[in-house]
This record gives sequence, C-alpha cells and structure tokens, in this order.
Amino acid sequence: MYIVMVSAECAPVAKAGGLGDFIQGLGRELTIQGHEVTIVLPKYDVLRTSFIQNLQPVYRDLWVPFYDRRIPCTVESGDVDGLRCLFIEPHSPQGFFRRGRIYGEPDDMDRFALFCRAVLEYFLMTGQHPNVIHCNDWQTGLLPVLLYEIYERLGMNRTRVCYSLHNVGYQGQTDPHVLQMNGLEVTRLLTADRLQDPSNPQLLNLMKGGIVFSNFVTTVSPQYAWEIQHTQQGMGLQPLLRQYDQKFGGVLNGIDDATWNPATDPLITSRYTADDLRRKAANKTALRRRLNLASGLKPIVAVVSRLDRQKGVELIRHAIDYVLAENCQFVLLGSALDPAIDAEFQQAKCDKLGNPNCHLELGYDEELAHLIYASADMILIPSVYEPCGLTQMIAMKYGCVPIVRRVGGLADTVFDANYSDKPFEERNGYVFDELTPAGLESALKRAIGLWFHHPDHFRQLRLNGMRTDNSWRRPSQHYLDIYHHICRDLPA
Ligand code: ADP
Ligand code: GLC
Repeated sequence: MYIVMVSAECAPVAKAGGLGDFIQGLGRELTIQGHEVTIVLPKYDVLRTSFIQNLQPVYRDLWVPFYDRRIPCTVESGDVDGLRCLFIEPHSPQGFFRRGRIYGEPDDMDRFALFCRAVLEYFLMTGQHPNVIHCNDWQTGLLPVLLYEIYERLGMNRTRVCYSLHNVGYQGQTDPHVLQMNGLEVTRLLTADRLQDPSNPQLLNLMKGGIVFSNFVTTVSPQYAWEIQHTQQGMGLQPLLRQYDQKFGGVLNGIDDATWNPATDPLITSRYTADDLRRKAANKTALRRRLNLASGLKPIVAVVSRLDRQKGVELIRHAIDYVLAENCQFVLLGSALDPAIDAEFQQAKCDKLGNPNCHLELGYDEELAHLIYASADMILIPSVYEPCGLTQMIAMKYGCVPIVRRVGGLADTVFDANYSDKPFEERNGYVFDELTPAGLESALKRAIGLWFHHPDHFRQLRLNGMRTDNSWRRPSQHYLDIYHHICRDLPA
C-alpha cells in the first residue's frame, strides 16, 4: 500500500512528545513490512537536520492558496533512519515554521491549516494517489475536510483518510476565518453536524472536522476510546464519537524496537538484556555521577514527562517529598510549556538544590531520558488522563517498574503486582485509582516496600515488564486492517 502519514511531529527530527514516537514507530514498522510509506512534516527551523540524509528539493514553487493570494512553498525529501520524509517550507514574511519551536504560536491554526493545504496541493500537482493519508491530531484535522470539499473534485478521489486522535484535550478550536482562508464556505461548514465547536457555536473545531470527514477514526488505546465516548474525558466530543461509533476504534500504540532497546541503545552507559540485568547497575552509577546524587542502597524513582496538567503535576510535586521521606532518590526530567507550571517546578528545583537524593532537570533532553530509563528502578506516571502513554512501555523495556494511575492506555498496559487478575508473569507494575496524594502513596508505598524487602520479587517484576511485547508488530496489523477496510471500494 502507498501510505502517507501527515503530522506535526516525527522522532527524532521533530519531537515534542509521544506523537513523534508514534509516527516514527508505526511508519518504520509499515516500511519494514514492505509498504510504501511517506511522512510529511513542516520544515521547522528547529528540525534536527543531523538525522536527515539526502535532503534535496523535489518540488519548487508549489503555490499554495492562502486567503486571496498564494504562498510559494518548497518541498524537500530526505531519509530519516530509513524512513522517507517530505518537508514543506512556505516562503513568506510570516516565517510560518521559523519560530524556534514546534507549537505554541498565536497563529498555530493558520500555520497548520496552510500545511494541510500544501500537502494536498503537492499530491495533486505531482499526480500521486496515496491509498491512505493517515492524519494525526487537530493540526491535520482540516486535511480530510479539504480533500472532500476541494481536492476530490480536482481528481484526488482514490485516496482515503484515517485520522488518529492522540489527545482530545487539544481540539484546535478557532475562529472560522481558517475556512475563509481556504475558500471554504463558512455557512455550510460551521454547523452542528460538521465543524462547529460543541461548546462554542461561534468557533470552528478542527479535530471535529477530522472526525466527521475521515473514513476511519482511531485513538491510541481501547480504554481511552471508551473514556472519550462515555466520560468527561471526551471534552465535549462524546456525542459525536458515539454517533460515529461504526468508524471509530482504539488501537493500542507500540514503541519502536530499534530506538528503545537497552541491548543496543547508544545513549546509555552500559547495555543489557533481561538475561544479564546486573549490567543495568552501571547506568545507575553513571546517572548518579552525572546528576551529583549520592550512591548507596536506595531505589531511584523517576519522572520523564511533559509537565502539563494532564500529567498530574500536583501529584508529581507531592511525590518528590514522599519519595525522599521514604529514603529513596527522586529524579525528574520535565518540560513545561505553561509558564505557571514551569515557575512551580523552578521553585521546587531551587528548594531541592544540593539535596544528594534529588535532581529536578527542567527542559527537554532526549539523551538524558534514555539514561534515566536505563538507571531508574521505578517510573511514576500519575496522569489525570492519558490517551496511551509511551513512557510506561519504554520504562518496562528498560527494566524500570511503572507506577501509574488507572486511566487510558496506562490501564491497558500496566498490570498491578498485587491486584491484577493477570497471571503473575504478566504483572508488571503498580496501579492506583484516586487522583489524590493518598491514592498515589498507596501504590508508591507497595513498590518501594517490595524494592527494599523483597528484591527477588522486584527483580521478577522488572523481568515481566522487559518481556512484555509492546512492539509495533501487532498494532501495525490493526492499522493495516483499517487501511484495507477504508480502501475496499477502490479499484485494485
Ligand atoms: P505525551 O505524548 O503525552 O507527552 P507519551 O508518554 O506518549 O506522552 O510520550 C512521551 C515521549 O516524550 C516519550 O518518548 C518520552 O521519553 C519523551 N519525553 C517526555 N518529556 C521529555 C523530556 N522532558 N525530555 C526528553 N524526552 C521527553
Ligand atoms: C499524546 C498522548 C499520549 C500518547 C501520545 C502518542 O501525546 O498524550 O498519551 O501516548 O499522544 O499517541
């Protein structure tokens, strides 16, 4: 199949969180299975170009409609670890993707709407007919709308769209000018059954557009699929997702075997497998040295996360003192976009400065993240909601035991050491329900207790996690089934 994945992120060239891992992991697995896969990204100034080989222009002067004018774009192609990528760069004084970061600009809606339009314009002008365009999150929600409303009539009628929701907390609610900008009819499209925002009728909802106009909609775990259809986690989209039940489902994410593998990881100090777990200890020593932490017989409890309300930041802050009081070490690597959350953690960092058992690192650091997974004994993920969550799967692969709140994909992947109904060899972590300090402590206490008092059992939990298959092999088959299903009416 010819599959085009359109996204705001792809690891390692443009990654802010798990969306980047998703595109890289699924794209690579489908490529390995012999499908023709192309990833399309904006050409950000912050692209990590050292990971791109053979970068070269494949289309110059792609004139993309934008309000009553056209913006010239260049399309370049390049290989990222064997994955074919296209990068679209608009040339205009606005410098749409030259902002020093991926997201968070006041004109994000315009930037990504222009990107969607440019993607379709490129395939139209080059006469290519992907079987499937796989769109992701609100940034690409307008693409299926544009395909249906404009590009099908121009001849792109052999392409189907699969749309994945990675986080319903960000829906791309915006002023309807984004429709005008694309020559789309506001009165016809800004309606309750099309793109009108469920909570504010004046606004356009780009994610809703993606849901209504795509041929199939997925989200990233079965549990989150249920939550967003039936609970407040749907953030207003519940009725719509129930209405489209026939074309909606949850496919649990995988993680990329080549990127996340302690046996081959070039970013860690000592490589190891489940059969020689003792070698993991050298990583712990290296991390302690790097972060000026004391040595000694103590577990390290870690957090590697975007610091966002979604991730349970209040509980993370509570955990710092609890873990230290329990005679353990605490390591946090966190990146905050929200200045208020950033300030809270900067304060916590000042308070803990010089503490030999605590290190709070604020910012985004891919290399340090790898070393933390390889060194820590436990990883804490007390999310308010979690569509899938990859850090628990990555941690397990590195023999680091996850302690998670039972929501979304965390509930689908972590099985409690004491209370799960799974056989013992499938239990791989600790789970709690209540979004309260007491809830968190109920799980942390059991994990820490096992580490100190039953090291053999704790080791077994690590091994259970390392042996859990969270690769992309199974989920990629689910996506292929979906792709075949939505293409079933196309001529072979
Ligand atoms: P989300 O996409 O909601 O941020 P996921 O668990 O799906 O959460 O994916 C997070 C990804 O981003 C993982 O690969 C994790 O290692 C990485 N990550 C998160 N925060 C940081 C950080 N501060 N520095 C480096 N990597 C990070
Ligand atoms: C989002 C979600 C996260 C998920 C990731 C990849 O960022 O917050 O839970 O794992 O997308 O699908």
